[in-house]
Amino acid sequence: MKTALSQCAILALLSFSFFSLAEHAKQPSTQLHAVTARNTLRVTDNYIPLRKHVAPHIPGQGSTLRRRGIMANLTNIHDVYYIIELQVGNQTIPVSVDTGSSDTWLVQNGYRCISYYGETPDCGLGEGLRGNLSGGNIPDLVFGRAYTDGTFVRGYFGYDDVSIGGITAKHQQLGLVDVASWFGDGLVSGLLGLAYPLMTSLEGGEQSMAPYNPVFFTMWKDKLVQGLFSIALSRDADQLTPPGNEAHPSSPVESAGTSFLALGGLPPVTVDEESWAITPIQSMKLLGDWDFSTEERGLYIIVADAWVYGRRNGSVGLSKNTTQFPVLIDVGATLSVLPKELVMALYESFDPPAKYMSSRGLFYALCNATVPEFGVQIGTSIFYFAPEDLLRQNARDPTNEYCRIGVTDSYFGPYVLGVTFLSNVVAVFDVGNNEMRFASRKKY
Ligand SMILES: *[C@@H]1O[C@H](CO)[C@@H](O)[C@H](O)[C@H]1NC(C)=O
Ligand SMILES: *[C@@H]1O[C@H](CO)[C@@H](O)[C@H](O)[C@H]1NC(C)=O
Ligand SMILES: *[C@@H]1O[C@H](CO)[C@@H](O)[C@H](O)[C@H]1NC(C)=O
Ligand SMILES: *[C@@H]1O[C@H](CO)[C@@H](O)[C@H](O)[C@H]1NC(C)=O
Ligand SMILES: *[C@@H]1O[C@H](CO)[C@@H](O)[C@H](O)[C@H]1NC(C)=O
Ligand SMILES: *[C@@H]1O[C@H](CO)[C@@H](O)[C@H](O)[C@H]1NC(C)=O
Repeated sequence: MKTALSQCAILALLSFSFFSLAEHAKQPSTQLHAVTARNTLRVTDNYIPLRKHVAPHIPGQGSTLRRRGIMANLTNIHDVYYIIELQVGNQTIPVSVDTGSSDTWLVQNGYRCISYYGETPDCGLGEGLRGNLSGGNIPDLVFGRAYTDGTFVRGYFGYDDVSIGGITAKHQQLGLVDVASWFGDGLVSGLLGLAYPLMTSLEGGEQSMAPYNPVFFTMWKDKLVQGLFSIALSRDADQLTPPGNEAHPSSPVESAGTSFLALGGLPPVTVDEESWAITPIQSMKLLGDWDFSTEERGLYIIVADAWVYGRRNGSVGLSKNTTQFPVLIDVGATLSVLPKELVMALYESFDPPAKYMSSRGLFYALCNATVPEFGVQIGTSIFYFAPEDLLRQNARDPTNEYCRIGVTDSYFGPYVLGVTFLSNVVAVFDVGNNEMRFASRKKY
């Protein structure tokens, strides 16, 4: 049964902070309540611009949970990633930013690239680390991560100082990769994993080694920064001058279309101050399919209060679905991945409706279709996806008439809010309080 709500009814509903949790009686309801709150955080000086990159095929992005195979069909649809310049010792290494994993790893110059057919000259990873990590290697400890599309990285662990935005994690444990099977496009040489320590100990959901503090956690535990970081992703392409061009250094002032990672506070972007919402980061146990027995936190899992979709048309308002399920906030995923029935209702709301393209394995709509509204409700705030993120004009089928939809469906979790959602908000990952906060970005 769909709940068609008039705009009046929506306003009435919005005056309640909480929705019925009956459908999730299994879960401890005290942990599920999201609230809308006044913002107490300030813009920090410790922010660093991220460069957006659009690539034809990105392997191995995101959570190592995906290696269980369930996300296999989705790996080649993550075509957008965000690059940050990491200072490792006295070298600058570009890496992609990921909140769906926790290890930070780099390739070492001279690494071996392996393909299905044997050794090949190029994995499409950029210039790697020259020499060894200055803090030495950890003997007898193998670093390895495998991803659903058959790619993997392997090597060892070592220590070095890692700096981001003026803060240095001293003697940070890092993965150094000497063997890779990868299909990159040459711009990054590793990955910055921003999720909880727990994920460093897991291979495909199983504990395989003792956890260690990832880069941000080291900074926090060393009391260099408050226990939160925040991300503002821009859907616009990179507006910054590439590093090294001293004539036009990256502007530290806010510029429309710049993306940021900020440590200990907010990034310098304008948000709707009325829209701030807070919701708990849930434990791994909520990912029921993975048999996690731990109450510990590992990934940025939240439970939204409701999902809003449809088109406002005369007296006919939007529909709201208050079914609650865990969803990962994942900067390393391009598309958002949500339950089948919900996504089908969204696809139906396009005019003309979206259609499945079997050759692509995804839903597309005419690029000139009327785009419906789609929003995530957290507390009393609804964070709407911009039309550009719902119907991606730059991701077209070969006829050039159909555009890819920014939300895709899955029969099972983990569900994901990826770049198509994150481009609309500032997301605060408050690991000190185990809470996520969001605010709508002002139009940019
Ligand atoms: C709401 O969403 C859930 C999960 O996707 C789905 O099972 C259910 O059928 C939806 N309810 C309505 C009324 O559309
Ligand atoms: C993944 O793709 C295979 C074949 O390409 C198909 O048989 C399977 O149903 C797909 N799985 C999902 C979850 O879409
Ligand atoms: C890096 O360390 C290994 C031993 O861990 C050593 O064999 C190798 O020569 C070192 N390489 C450089 C460039 O120092
Ligand atoms: C960088 O650091 C290494 C040791 O960690 C040192 O051998 C090298 O000379 C340094 N290079 C520069 C340019 O400072
Ligand atoms: C409202 O929807 C109906 C049926 O989908 C359509 O015929 C009509 O043109 C729409 N009106 C507006 C104002 O969009
Ligand atoms: C939308 O695009 C399709 C295919 O490109 C075209 O046939 C149709 O006329 C367009 N509709 C409008 C309203 O522009």
